[in-house]
Amino acid sequence: MKFWSIFLTIVELNTVAGCLFGKFGIDCIHTCHCLDGADCNDTSGQCVAECAPGWDGPSCQRENIAYGRSTSQKEGTLSQNSSNAVDDSIRTCSASKSNVPGWWSVTLDYVTTVRSVVVRTDSSHTIQGWKIYVGKVDNPISMELCTTIDVFGSGTTAFCDTPIEGKYIRVVNRKGSVNICDFQLKECMKYWFGEECENTCNCEDHEEVCDDITGKCKTGCSPGWVGSGCQTACSQGYGPDCKFQCGHCAPNTTCNHVTGTCPQGCEAGWTGMFCTSRCDNSKHGSNCNTSCGHCYGIDSCDVTTECKGGYYGRNCSFLCGHCKDGTVCDHKIGICPSGCKPGWQGVFCTVLCDQGYYGEGCKTKCNNCYENKCSSEDGRCLKGCSDGYIGQRCNIQCSRGTYGRNCSSTCGNCTSGDSCDATTGYCESGCIAGYQQPMCTKLCAEGYYGINCEKCGVCEAGTTCDPFTGYCPAGCGFNFFGEKCMQSEPFSDEDGPQLAIFLGFMIATVGLILSMTTLCLVLIWRREHLLDLSEECNKSMKDNMEHHEPSAIEIEDDEASVFI
Ligand SMILES: *[C@@H]1O[C@H](CO)[C@@H](O)[C@H](O)[C@H]1NC(C)=O
Ligand SMILES: *[C@@H]1O[C@H](CO)[C@@H](O)[C@H](O)[C@H]1NC(C)=O
Ligand SMILES: *[C@@H]1O[C@H](CO)[C@@H](O)[C@H](O)[C@H]1NC(C)=O
Ligand SMILES: *[C@@H]1O[C@H](CO)[C@@H](O)[C@H](O)[C@H]1NC(C)=O
Ligand SMILES: *[C@@H]1O[C@H](CO)[C@@H](O)[C@H](O)[C@H]1NC(C)=O
Ligand SMILES: *[C@@H]1O[C@H](CO)[C@@H](O)[C@H](O)[C@H]1NC(C)=O
Ligand SMILES: *[C@@H]1O[C@H](CO)[C@@H](O)[C@H](O)[C@H]1NC(C)=O
Repeated sequence: MKFWSIFLTIVELNTVAGCLFGKFGIDCIHTCHCLDGADCNDTSGQCVAECAPGWDGPSCQRENIAYGRSTSQKEGTLSQNSSNAVDDSIRTCSASKSNVPGWWSVTLDYVTTVRSVVVRTDSSHTIQGWKIYVGKVDNPISMELCTTIDVFGSGTTAFCDTPIEGKYIRVVNRKGSVNICDFQLKECMKYWFGEECENTCNCEDHEEVCDDITGKCKTGCSPGWVGSGCQTACSQGYGPDCKFQCGHCAPNTTCNHVTGTCPQGCEAGWTGMFCTSRCDNSKHGSNCNTSCGHCYGIDSCDVTTECKGGYYGRNCSFLCGHCKDGTVCDHKIGICPSGCKPGWQGVFCTVLCDQGYYGEGCKTKCNNCYENKCSSEDGRCLKGCSDGYIGQRCNIQCSRGTYGRNCSSTCGNCTSGDSCDATTGYCESGCIAGYQQPMCTKLCAEGYYGINCEKCGVCEAGTTCDPFTGYCPAGCGFNFFGEKCMQSEPFSDEDGPQLAIFLGFMIATVGLILSMTTLCLVLIWRREHLLDLSEECNKSMKDNMEHHEPSAIEIEDDEASVFI
């Protein structure tokens, strides 16, 4: 366990600090191999440009161990010298003496296991029938045959029939010269494996060099690593065989697969190197780095940062108000951070909008609602509309000809066609003849008529004029005349029947008196001659004065005018 914690410290230091120039990987144990000695990616080993000559693979960890090593050949020329085969360029080639059996050889820096080599010649030659020998000493007799190349062409990767240990490699052609443009023997750097040396192995024993093909570690995998070559980090858990569970790391983060520490701190309410310890009574929050507020009595606060489920305050026992967009109120004081949801107001968003207002911030006025009562959330009128409006939000005016609550009343007989004030029902431009303002639903009162319910003329006693026309149906009263019995001057130019009757009566009466007087004078004259007739005359005159009926007067009308 002591080793384990020391190891953890080293790993943490190195992963956090990054690597020095020219180094990379966990522990910075790997060396960059970039062109011109450039630095590489601290994590992957990738070079910005390309790998240095003699190196390839995604992390430049595959080395051509023949590159630049010492070479020789049978009697070559200076321009086609043997080192041209190991200069990492296919354009320059070696060539042994022509037309005689030839050979070429390279001396590696150390004894290694040779499994395959790459050989390329130029386009005018073929490598078929060439033999590759490997040996620990530079003596053709003691060298072992790796393989005889059996392909027709100018280049191949030649696999040894069995892997051979050696430091010296010799290429032999019994049928002619050996011309090599490129010769490679590739080997992964230690701790790397795979076809292109793209994987690192992480053996339990950090000194162990894993198999460069399979990556297998004899000592098993290092903690935090799994896979056939111990190349895969634990996806869950950490440590040896990934068997330890991570602690309470910050939300959506996982612990370091090797060390188990939480890179971004602990979840609220947890602390410790592995985030496995609960906060003590006086702290809360992520890493327990926040002190509790003024908790009641000896209560400690909730160890997590917030009350859950929209509660706030002491013991999280108060329910949040109606915060906007389903947000949760401040867990300590209960204020809604982004304001209230439509229809609510107050610091805690627990108060409905004042009557007559609705919506966000309670800023919108209700529309023509009956008693000004609308839903504080969406403004719909709760008790229907006020007079003159209809619709859910009472924003539609009554249509022409209707008014009042629900627009269910019909306008009276307005002059302006059929429209009236949508609220009151008043005819704005007055009534048609015969109706009373302002509603124009009632006929003019008795004795009134026409557009503004004017006073009737003087009709015959006991009758009233027509409310529409103003005519007196039974004629005018005494001393009145005209269509509507409005005139009362007795001797106007206009000849009315009343005047005629009156004049006729006067003339007839005067005429009768004159004719009676004449008759009597005649009779008196006669009595002077015939005395017995005088009594008869007196009696007749008396009778006529008592029975003067209008009909008799009218009959004598013409007679009377003759007398005038
Ligand atoms: C290093 O490589 C890793 C993995 O390929 C990549 O995520 C990271 O961005 C690289 N860093 C730089 C500085 O290029
Ligand atoms: C081999 O030839 C190359 C040019 O082809 C030359 O640069 C190099 O110096 C020569 N090496 C020796 C040892 O002669
Ligand atoms: C965690 O991940 C879930 C699902 O991917 C996501 O909904 C949530 O917002 C994330 N939480 C944090 C704090 O990032
Ligand atoms: C508490 O820890 C978190 C996460 O490590 C950090 O972001 C925050 O700044 C810390 N707060 C205090 C008051 O130390
Ligand atoms: C808060 O919780 C404690 C412990 O559960 C309890 O004793 C106390 O009465 C609670 N206070 C209130 C106001 O609910
Ligand atoms: C108006 O219409 C509503 C809904 O149809 C109804 O409940 C109400 O009684 C009506 N009011 C009047 C005065 O007609
Ligand atoms: C309007 O006038 C017509 C005919 O003049 C009458 O039938 C109707 O009853 C009147 N309407 C009202 C509301 O008085």
